[in-house]
Amino acid sequence: MKGFKERQNIKTDIKLLDELIIGGIPRDSFILLLGEGGTGKSAILGELCYRFLKRGEPVLYVALDNSPQSVFSDINSLGWDISNFCENGLLRFLDGYSYRMKAEYDEKCITVLKEPDDLPNFTDKLVSIMDEMGMNGRGIVLVDSLTELMTLSDPSQVVESVKNWRARGSKERNTLFVSTIHFGLKAFEGFADVFDYIVDGIIDLRYDPEYMASDVLVKQIRIRKIKGSDHYTNWVNFVIGKNGLKPLIIEEKKKTSNSKKKSNKK
Ligand SMILES: Nc1ncnc2c1ncn2[C@@H]1O[C@H](COP(=O)(O)OP(=O)(O)OP(=O)(O)O)[C@@H](O)[C@H]1O
Ligand SMILES: [Mg+2]
Repeated sequence: MKGFKERQNIKTDIKLLDELIIGGIPRDSFILLLGEGGTGKSAILGELCYRFLKRGEPVLYVALDNSPQSVFSDINSLGWDISNFCENGLLRFLDGYSYRMKAEYDEKCITVLKEPDDLPNFTDKLVSIMDEMGMNGRGIVLVDSLTELMTLSDPSQVVESVKNWRARGSKERNTLFVSTIHFGLKAFEGFADVFDYIVDGIIDLRYDPEYMASDVLVKQIRIRKIKGSDHYTNWVNFVIGKNGLKPLIIEEKKKTSNSKKKSNKK
């Protein structure tokens, strides 16, 4: 059809994610990373940040839970130094955290929002930085986290903002957004369902419930939905450490062969 561009599906360069999302992620998607505290949402965003920068794509990191300095340190602890990318303009921060602190920055790559609860201004700033960075059909916007934004302002207004970011950012500028959201906060319970139907993709993170029953925390990831792509939907165990996300293979105890041996002895 005239005027319609063919959709581009892209790899994340995170091996485990790319193996699960066989068809790649449509570039014009708004994806949610949903999970409990400590399941690895921010670490995955950190790895996406590094992987996109490494292949020369611009990254806009919207920092709400943490200061840009902490994001740097966290990514550094995963084994990657991203400071050069700040200097060469490929990485920028929209900082909705540091208004709480007295410190003033003169780093060009950090734009501090004095009033992050002013959501129309937030959206305008976000879109104008995307344009300054030439984000059209390239790059990624990472948001950590939507939950923090909901604690700062009216959650229904945050839903409205996400609709605007998806329309003006993902669709109009054909740029991937990945945003974290905390699962399990009673105050925002109803909103998880609302986001569910707004967004293009949902990646769930959790602790394996069977292991949790014996007080062992095994992280798991599952691709719940990605519009316009083929993907697996099973839960996969993973760990986070130096060099990011890795699958975790837990050896099953060979009960059957042992019990066979025992029964043979009889
Ligand atoms: N650099 C690292 N080295 C080793 N493990 C790490 C590293 N960074 C994160 N992790 C692992 O990931 C866990 C926390 O991950 P992360 O901060 O990404 O969780 P989160 O889902 O963002 O949590 P929250 O909802 O509290 O923000 C840690 O407890 C640790 O197990
Ligand atoms: Mg986090």
